[in-house]
Amino acid sequence: MKAVAELTEAEAVEELTRLADEIAAHDIRYYQEDQPLISDADYDALKLRNSEIEARFPHLIRENSPSLRVGAARAEQFAPVEHGVPMLSLDNAFSDQDAIEFDARVRRFLKLDEEVAYTAEPKIDGLSCSIRYEKGRLVQAATRGDGRVGEDVTANVRTIKEIPQRLAGSGWPDVIEIRGEVYLGHAEFADLNAAAEAAGQKTYANPRNAAAGSLRQIDSKVTAQRPLRFFAYAWGYLSASFAETQWGALRKLREWGFQVTPQSECVKGAEGLLAAYARMEAERPKLGFDIDGVVYKVDRLDWQQRLGFVSRAPRWGIARKFPAQQARTILEAIDIQVGRTGALTPVARLTPVTVGGVVVTNATLHNADEIARLDVRI
Ligand code: IVH
Repeated sequence: MKAVAELTEAEAVEELTRLADEIAAHDIRYYQEDQPLISDADYDALKLRNSEIEARFPHLIRENSPSLRVGAARAEQFAPVEHGVPMLSLDNAFSDQDAIEFDARVRRFLKLDEEVAYTAEPKIDGLSCSIRYEKGRLVQAATRGDGRVGEDVTANVRTIKEIPQRLAGSGWPDVIEIRGEVYLGHAEFADLNAAAEAAGQKTYANPRNAAAGSLRQIDSKVTAQRPLRFFAYAWGYLSASFAETQWGALRKLREWGFQVTPQSECVKGAEGLLAAYARMEAERPKLGFDIDGVVYKVDRLDWQQRLGFVSRAPRWGIARKFPAQQARTILEAIDIQVGRTGALTPVARLTPVTVGGVVVTNATLHNADEIARLDVRI
């Protein structure tokens, strides 16, 4: 693949078009059909390349650019719900350096010399959900959808035991949209797939898809039989504010009856961010549920307010992703694929292997340097 710095304008146009189509197709597989074709890391790589090309050619940013979009439009079978406050996404950080720069950007923006406190929370790999409470009663629940309009999954969410029908304690605003992640634990996922296999039904590739497929059932009786769980970590529309810090807000969410990730912590400065990441990476195999990184958030909510958002992501938070997962398999054959333009691409046929929650059976061998490095042979 050509380096972004070497692309001509014409090539950039062509590649942005291709990336927009490709990413949109993956979004539909992931968000609507709960059946992704590529790993999250490969998906992130497509988005990153799109953003890098856009950064070099800002005048070429397409109206349907993947960088201006989160998720995919809702599926037809669910009624639309307009979120009181849009459900946005987080930018990704992939290295210690990215995390250090995030802290530097925050301090520069706020014109601070002092250390900033952040929460470091596990990035739960499920699907986000917004649950509206009025006078403490659950009245509506929606998936993220395209971030502005989600899918009405109220009946299904009511079957999830970890989501209170009525808020406990006191001090909640009259109207509040609680946001968090619906997910399945590893043990529950294994049981679900074993039962599906025994019944000759389709199995899910990973816990995230199983959670999404279970929540987005037409018949809530089916959802009720799936042991879905929920962690609360954010909120949308509020009729009154209820906390001064993210850490304080998490405490309130727990008091009101929600599960909050016990691995979350409050840390100081860039050093604290890096230490939290290392700790979470070490804890990851023992958690019993999937996480795909660590979310850093500026703790003070008045500072979050000042930092605000840039297009679809906040300046006050970032997702530090874990590196791509690797797996070993056997190269069974190499086929030559003929493209529409007559271009020839060698394709590796592999013994199926699960990597990052996706079953991989083929890989294109278009990168000559990489083939030489790996010394690929049947
Ligand atoms: S906060 C403005 N906290 O990651 C967005 N998100 O890429 C605020 N996620 O859509 C989101 N764990 O589905 C937040 N502790 C956490 C999270 C978390 C998982 C997901 C969520 C969000 C996506 C952002």
